[in-house]
Amino acid sequence: LHLYVLNGPNLNLLGTREPQVYGHQTLADVEALCQRTGRGYGFEVHCHQSNHEGDLVSWIHEAGLHHRSGHLAGIVLNAGAYTHTSVALLDAIKGTGVPLIELHISNVHARESFRHHSYIASAAKAVMCGFGVMGYGLAIDAIARWQETTT
Ligand code: DQA
Repeated sequence: LHLYVLNGPNLNLLGTREPQVYGHQTLADVEALCQRTGRGYGFEVHCHQSNHEGDLVSWIHEAGLHHRSGHLAGIVLNAGAYTHTSVALLDAIKGTGVPLIELHISNVHARESFRHHSYIASAAKAVMCGFGVMGYGLAIDAIARWQETTT
C-alpha cells in the first residue's frame, strides 16, 4: 500500500522558518519521521515537497491512480498557504476521491483569521493542526488504523 506525504510552499524552509511557530526540525527530519513511521506499518512511503501548486495537484492525481487500483493507504497533505487559496487542490481531492488528512503544524485557528478558512477541508477525510511536526507521525498512525477497520 502506498502512502503519500505532500508538503506545499515554504515547508522546505522548516527548521529556519519562524521556529517559534514551526519548531526546529527540518523537512528532512519530518520526511525521515514519515518514512520510519510508514514503513513500520508496511507502507511504501512517498514524500514530496513543492512550492508550486500544480505539482501538488499532480501528486494527488498520481496517488489517485493507486487509489483506483486499491493500493493507496492515504495522503497526508500540508498544503501550506495554498490551503487558504486553492480551489485546484480542492478539485483534485474531490476528483480523485483519495482518503486524505489535511495537516498543519501550527494551530491555524489561533493565528490570523485568513488562516481559519480552508478550501480543502470539506474534501478531507480528517483535519489536524497544532501538534507540531509530531502531527505527521500521528496522521500516519491514523491512516494505519483506517486499514485495520476497512480490511
Ligand atoms: C501551515 C499553516 C499555513 O497557514 C501556512 O501558510 C503554512 C504552514 C502549518 O503547517 O501550520 O505554510 O500549513
